[in-house]
Amino acid sequence: MKVAVLGGTGEMGSAIAKQLSRSNQVIIGSRDPARASEAARSIAGAEGLGYLEAVQKADVVVFAIPYSALGEAARLSGPATGKLVISAVNPLKLEGGLLKFAKADGSAAEELASLLPGSRVATAFNNVSALFFKTDEVVPMDILVAADSKETYEEAANLVRGIPNLRPLYAGPLSEARIVERITPLILNLSRLNKTKSLATKFVATEGNGK
Ligand SMILES: NC(=O)c1ccc[n+]([C@@H]2O[C@H](COP(=O)([O-])OP(=O)(O)OC[C@H]3O[C@@H](n4cnc5c(N)ncnc54)[C@H](OP(=O)(O)O)[C@@H]3O)[C@@H](O)[C@H]2O)c1
Repeated sequence: MKVAVLGGTGEMGSAIAKQLSRSNQVIIGSRDPARASEAARSIAGAEGLGYLEAVQKADVVVFAIPYSALGEAARLSGPATGKLVISAVNPLKLEGGLLKFAKADGSAAEELASLLPGSRVATAFNNVSALFFKTDEVVPMDILVAADSKETYEEAANLVRGIPNLRPLYAGPLSEARIVERITPLILNLSRLNKTKSLATKFVATEGNGK
């Protein structure tokens, strides 16, 4: 698969790109193609392009840009049509010393879907700190994937499975992205308030059949 990571020069985008490059051909997308090329140099087989060219060339597009920049997506709706789009975007704000969800309702992923009406949008990687992806071996964790169809979930899940130790879990339709994204400020606050290292999602199952 050719995967474009928009925001691939940033903290999370570069970390996702590094991990996805294990099983995919990665294209780093930046507002500045020169910066994209520079960032691509550290990833085997990767190339760097401007957003438009990166989306045109890709089969899958990952958004790892700030929520405040989401409007950028509107001009990409043409080339993104018919493609799988993954949103790792979390709308966050700092309030009273705690991180809070920064949208009154809905989610960044639903907003992205409305800007890209011809694309299949799913969430992934929202609740993982980039720090987890900077190592060669990622610790086992669960990646919550919300998507409007089970087929889109499976496409996104296969991308996640390409990174050893990650287990994709279906979180329901894209409207559930509002829950998935809200977990991120909770996790960041948990780690800060309890003075732990970075935390990520890992769900445990009962030994029996759960009845
Ligand atoms: N950091 C994490 O651990 C983490 C974890 C999970 C999810 N996320 C999500 O990933 C997204 C990116 O977070 P980040 O921490 O990686 O941020 P970052 O280090 O600031 O990187 C953001 C990247 O987005 C690009 N960008 C595009 N439009 C922009 C604009 N108007 N203003 C600033 N940058 C713009 C920039 O690339 P160019 O300048 O090259 O265009 C930049 O490299 C956020 O939505 C965040 O919630 C982050």
